[in-house]
Amino acid sequence: MMQPTPSPEQQAFKAAMRTQWDQSAQGWNDHAAQIGAWLACGTEAMLEMAGVEPGARVLDVAAGAGEQTLRVAERVGRTGFVLATDLSPAIVALAQANAVHAGHHNVRTQVADGESLGLTPASFDAAVCRLGLMFFPNPLLGLLEMHSALRPGGGVCTMMFSRLERNPCITILMSTALKHAGLAPRDPYQAGGLLSLGRPGLADALFQQAGFNEVATTVIDAPFTLPSVHHYVEFIRSSASPVLQILGRLDEQAAAAAWAEIEERLAVFNTASGWQGPNELLLTAGRR
Ligand SMILES: C[S@@+](CC[C@H](N)C(=O)[O-])C[C@H]1O[C@@H](n2cnc3c(N)ncnc32)[C@H](O)[C@@H]1O
Repeated sequence: MMQPTPSPEQQAFKAAMRTQWDQSAQGWNDHAAQIGAWLACGTEAMLEMAGVEPGARVLDVAAGAGEQTLRVAERVGRTGFVLATDLSPAIVALAQANAVHAGHHNVRTQVADGESLGLTPASFDAAVCRLGLMFFPNPLLGLLEMHSALRPGGGVCTMMFSRLERNPCITILMSTALKHAGLAPRDPYQAGGLLSLGRPGLADALFQQAGFNEVATTVIDAPFTLPSVHHYVEFIRSSASPVLQILGRLDEQAAAAAWAEIEERLAVFNTASGWQGPNELLLTAGRR
C-alpha cells in the first residue's frame, strides 16, 4: 500500500521521539527487570492472543530494548523467528545485545518507523506491540503495516494504556509538570501521547479500519509495584516520559521543586509493603 507522506509536524514529532528514546535507551534497559515484572501477566496474555507459538515467525513493533522480544524468542523456540523493530537506533542496539546475551539465535533487529516498516507482505504468523503504538502520530498506519506483514489468518495483539481515570500516575505526572512549567493543561488523549489510544472503543475501531477481523479488547489491571515512590520517580526520570521534555525547560531549582511535588503527590500510593501505582492496560487483538 502507498503510504501517505507524513506532514512536517509528524516528521518533527518522530524526530523528537527518536532523539528522546535514543537518550533514554540505557535508562529503559536498566529498568528491564522492573518493567518485566510489572508487565509480566499482560505480556503473556498479549503473546497468547497474538498466537505466538513454537515455530512461529513473529514481528515485534516498537520493541524497545527487547524485554518482551526475549519472551517471544523463548516461546517460538529454535524453529521460530522474531524480528524486533524500533524507531530508536540506540534502543535497537540494546535489544540486539540483549538477544545475543540471552543466547537467542532466532532474533533479528531492525531500526524502523512502525508507520512504514516496508516488510515483505504476508511473511509473519504473528505481530505484537507492547506500549508502543500510542506513540505513533498515525497509529492506523502502524496497524496497516502489521496487517500487511501478517499472513492471512495471522494474529496481532497490542498493549496500550487505557483511559485517564484508570491511570492516575500519568495524570499526576503531567498535571504537576505543566503547572510548574506555567503551561496550560493538555488534551490527555492527544495523538502520540501516552493515553492517545485509551478512549474506550478507539483501538477496536482502528483495528477494524486496518482490516483486522475478530477484533476484541481485554482490559487488565497492571499495578506497578516498587520498593518506594522514589524508585518510581527514578524510573520516570530515566525513561522518555513527556514530563522530562516539559521540565527540561526549567532551571535546576524549579525542576527540583517540580520533581519534589510529583514525588509527594505520588506518595498517595504508598502501601505497608512499598509503593503500588495503579495502571490499567488494554490488550487489543485481531486476526488478518
Ligand atoms: C515505552 S517504550 C516500549 C518498549 C518495549 N516495547 C517495552 O515494552 O519494553 C516505547 C518504544 O516505542 C518506540 N517508538 C516510538 N515511536 C515509534 C515509531 N513511530 N516507530 C517505531 N517505534 C517507535 C520508542 O523508540 C520506544 O522504544
